[in-house]
Amino acid sequence: MKPTKKLIIAVDGPAAAGKGTLAKSLAQVLGLPYLDTGLLYRAVARRVIDQGANPHDDATVFAESLETDDLERNDLRQPEVDQAASLVARQPGVRAALLERQRHFGRLGGAVIDGRDIGTVVFPDADMKFFITASPGVRAQRRYRQRYGHDCDDETVLQKEVRAITERDQQDASRDVAPLKPAIDAVMIKTDHLTAADVLHKTLDVLRERGLLGS
Ligand code: CDP
Repeated sequence: MKPTKKLIIAVDGPAAAGKGTLAKSLAQVLGLPYLDTGLLYRAVARRVIDQGANPHDDATVFAESLETDDLERNDLRQPEVDQAASLVARQPGVRAALLERQRHFGRLGGAVIDGRDIGTVVFPDADMKFFITASPGVRAQRRYRQRYGHDCDDETVLQKEVRAITERDQQDASRDVAPLKPAIDAVMIKTDHLTAADVLHKTLDVLRERGLLGS
């Protein structure tokens, strides 16, 4: 399946909603590069933690000096990094330092890009914008499965995950710069009762209806 041009497709949404799963498979099906912008904020947070710095303090220098190696580490998805990433992501200096990098990636040859502000700030004129959501309970279960490879049957553990996710959503949605919110022209998809394949097919249908896919 070939896009009619070098599309920029924004996939935004709250924590663990399935943005990454969707964006990755869309990119693969459409033959477009994929960028997970959450990794940029996670890599900044990782450096802050490793230096023993406080994620509430200005982390702009860490964002400005981010290197490819920082993005390839295998310890960017730990719970402590989730929270610290959300804290450094509130800082205007950090966001400014990462903005051009994201735009440059997309402009090279089109891309599917997932994050929080892709459709609102990074690529406000993206060809297509999706906003992916699911209820906190479903997202907590998905995050647990992603981390441990099986469902969580302990209600206390699950509730702890729900609280962590909700806290991060609130932090992301209430910040002054580039808050988490759907772009006015985003297509909203609630994924509680959808499989990953369902979501992929739904988004491909939308792209087709809009004339963005060739045969
Ligand atoms: O995978 P998950 O949805 O849990 O998070 P992520 O996409 O890896 O993003 C981690 C954190 O980075 C988020 O909680 C946001 O605070 C921040 N982020 C952001 O502010 N803007 C983006 N475009 C992507 C992530």
